Amino acid sequence: MAARAQRYTAVAIVLHWAIATAILFMIPMGLWMHESAEHGDVSAQLFRAYQLHKSIGLTVLALSFVRLAWRLMNPPPPMPAHMPVWERFVAKATHWAFYALMIGLPLSGWLYVSTGWSIHDEAPLPVATHWFGLFEVPALFGLNQAGLGVREDAAEAALTAHAYLAYAALGLAALHVLAALKHQLFDKDEVLAHMVPGLRAPNETEAAPKNPVRLAILGGGLSVIVVALAAASFILLSGSPTATSPQAQSSFEVVETPATTTEAPATTTAVAPPAASGQASAWRVDAARSSIAFAFSMDDGSGSASRIDGRFALWRADIRFDPNDLENSAVAVTIQTGSASDGIASHDAYMREPGWFDVDAHPTATFRATDFRRRGEGYEARGELTIKGRERNVRLPFTLTINGDTAVMNGTVAIDREEFDLGKDVEGADMISRNVDVTIRVQATRSS
Ligand code: HEM
Repeated sequence: MAARAQRYTAVAIVLHWAIATAILFMIPMGLWMHESAEHGDVSAQLFRAYQLHKSIGLTVLALSFVRLAWRLMNPPPPMPAHMPVWERFVAKATHWAFYALMIGLPLSGWLYVSTGWSIHDEAPLPVATHWFGLFEVPALFGLNQAGLGVREDAAEAALTAHAYLAYAALGLAALHVLAALKHQLFDKDEVLAHMVPGLRAPNETEAAPKNPVRLAILGGGLSVIVVALAAASFILLSGSPTATSPQAQSSFEVVETPATTTEAPATTTAVAPPAASGQASAWRVDAARSSIAFAFSMDDGSGSASRIDGRFALWRADIRFDPNDLENSAVAVTIQTGSASDGIASHDAYMREPGWFDVDAHPTATFRATDFRRRGEGYEARGELTIKGRERNVRLPFTLTINGDTAVMNGTVAIDREEFDLGKDVEGADMISRNVDVTIRVQATRSS
């Protein structure tokens, strides 16, 4: 029996809990990101999640190197004497496997994003990584400059490894926790107390002496972990698509009986929805499955253009559409220009400036259409798109599927940004293609 159990150093304990908390937070987050991207989500929340995931992951990588160096300089407390050789071997192997995962897991994520290739779109996705918005993280091994085939293969391999390593970390963590509980509850030894601050080992007869420096490091370090966890959860959950936002409040109406459309004055900043019909079914936009995205290509001077994808986080759409009564169908979409984002903080700030959306002077862009025609299997909406006060006629081809109480609309239109004075005489705008594809996807549920 140990009168007083030895402990890990305070620094080792803080690093242990910081890395463990981060990894356990990151695994469900990464799985959610993967699923959402796979389902075509381009919400601001997902963009934020990607940047947050990358920032926390790179921090874990850095902390893991510090932890490894610390471990090599500060040997851990000895294992209890009663442990048989096989158990000592398994414990050591688990701990070293953890170090390999703590480094390999974030490194594989970094490799994936370095390729600048999206396995979801099967296309280049040159979104830079900004560490908590403070500085840009370079691509590993210049992968983003490699040929497309290499980038595609490397992205596939890196993300597969990333996912497998994450599952391995989960499995190992389960084993690790069970082993710690076994020591505490069955062996009644000091193993868990080595790492849990304030925990008295079942076989300990004397309390550990209070060391003010140790207490300060533990108190400060563990507080930082709690605050960081709360901040990360807040960033991740704030502005979620289910929260009340203009987009979540949008309504998508499918008119089933003829109705008269009332035009809203063109000067209003928010476009009034078409007049409601007493018979009209109301459709509520499913914000999580709806998006207004844009895509353009960017040539940064290296000669190869890369596709950049962005989206508007805030918009509302009032649509009344009856396939059998196109004459009385009408669409009004209002977009908050300041919500444009391509996931890169510096780009987003840039887009708000006078040379681009000039958000202060023109906070909204609108699209109104009352002229609908059949086109092949789908439809075409002819209407006016107004951005920065410049109104242009636009034809939006789209498909619409109404299945029971669910309607899905998809349409893409290419616009010439210079017609709307977007980046016309702005330095650096020549790197951005004049053609910008705007893709609208709306999923709505019949609400009455
Ligand atoms: C503590 C470290 C990390 C953990 C535990 C972790 C965990 C995960 C998990 C479980 C997934 C889902 C994998 C899948 O199902 O395909 C994921 C996805 C992802 N991770 Fe990490 N990750 C870490 C670090 C990083 C780092 C450092 C980066 C990049 C700098 C990164 C970038 C990504 C990206 C971009 C995805 C989404 C891939 C997609 O679009 O499907 N991760 N991560």
